[in-house]
Amino acid sequence: MPTKPLVIGLTGGIGSGKSHVRSTLVSLGAEGIDADRVAHAVMAPGGAAYGGVVAAFGAEILGPDGAIDRARLGARVFGDPAALARLEAITHPAVFAATQARVAASTAPAVVIEAIKLLEAGFSRTLCDQVWVTQCSRRQQLARLWASRGMSTEEARRRIANQMAPAQMAAQADRVIDTGGAMAETALKVLAGWADLGLPLPAPVIRPVTLADAEGTAAVLNSVVREGGRTIAGRTYTPAQERAFLRAMPQRSVLNIALLGKVVAGFQEYMPYATYTHTMDHVASVGTFIAAAVRGRGLGHALSAVTWADARAAGYSKLVITVREDNPEAQAFYTGLGFQPCGRLARQAFVDGRYVDELLYELFFE
Ligand SMILES: CC(C)(COP(=O)(O)OP(=O)(O)OC[C@H]1O[C@@H](n2cnc3c(N)ncnc32)[C@H](O)[C@@H]1OP(=O)(O)O)[C@@H](O)C(=O)NCCC(=O)NCCS
Repeated sequence: MPTKPLVIGLTGGIGSGKSHVRSTLVSLGAEGIDADRVAHAVMAPGGAAYGGVVAAFGAEILGPDGAIDRARLGARVFGDPAALARLEAITHPAVFAATQARVAASTAPAVVIEAIKLLEAGFSRTLCDQVWVTQCSRRQQLARLWASRGMSTEEARRRIANQMAPAQMAAQADRVIDTGGAMAETALKVLAGWADLGLPLPAPVIRPVTLADAEGTAAVLNSVVREGGRTIAGRTYTPAQERAFLRAMPQRSVLNIALLGKVVAGFQEYMPYATYTHTMDHVASVGTFIAAAVRGRGLGHALSAVTWADARAAGYSKLVITVREDNPEAQAFYTGLGFQPCGRLARQAFVDGRYVDELLYELFFE
């Protein structure tokens, strides 16, 4: 029996990262609908709104090929609220009907509808189960519109002023996604939203990190650092610092990432336990970090299967891990993987203003 997809309506100011959120949701398994493209389609010759728009605005909005020239139409309605309202009264119902038909036909677990006028057009409560709103600072919006579309500050300000105020959008949202951080941080927030809704996770892809993933691994690490109480990392990393860390990893080290769609959701690394001597060449130390939203879903185990095999192939026969004594989840995770407790390092780290003990665990491959 096909089940009805969960419908997420996605809106937000221009340049606030809607499309990035949509494409992240699509990578997790959602079907994506861009209402702007649907609007193009319904206004194309033969589309449901074509005749109505031409009847309302006259043949002068047509190009030589008989299609509606959006620039000409824009010039007619821009700065004339009554004309814009007339246009939208024709296009919005057609966009709504086309979108509704796509939702009804979808077999995906979720459909995301990105629409700049989601709230104004009345889509939000009739078609959507959820409303998500993207937000960032005005300054970032302007910078992004300049960088991505070459839009002047003046033009961007004018367009932003024509939109619903961010606070008003947020007041109608089930989830506000702050897109002010790195793209990978936004992606993690999207993943958290997906997981919170109980939507199925795609199968993880486990692969070695590349420098291009540094923003993603930093986002995961930073999220764990900000949670507090889990790691002795004690600081957050910028993508540049993370890239420097990855470049400086010693030989015979591996860092594998777990991707859910295009979201770096976790990583695991091993490094030689000691590089100043060859007597411990068989020993590697490991670490594992999974984003909070997707813990207990098997990602740590999936990573370990790959990382341990890599370590064996690289000639290691023993793994060592230290875990904070106040981190029972991680202790359970490693003992579940066969690690044996072998000691306590008292007052081993000074973190968050106090000393914490670390517990030592070891695992022999044979
Ligand atoms: C520890 C960690 C790596 C486990 O990864 P994970 O993807 O959640 O683990 P998996 O889903 O593969 O395995 C789940 C196992 O982990 C342990 N575990 C994970 N979350 C747990 C929780 N909330 N409570 C108790 N045990 C938990 C359990 O042993 C569980 O086994 P079970 O399912 O049989 O009960 C992850 O919780 C994490 O990243 N924590 C924050 C960072 C950290 O503490 N890293 C360790 C320091 S190196």
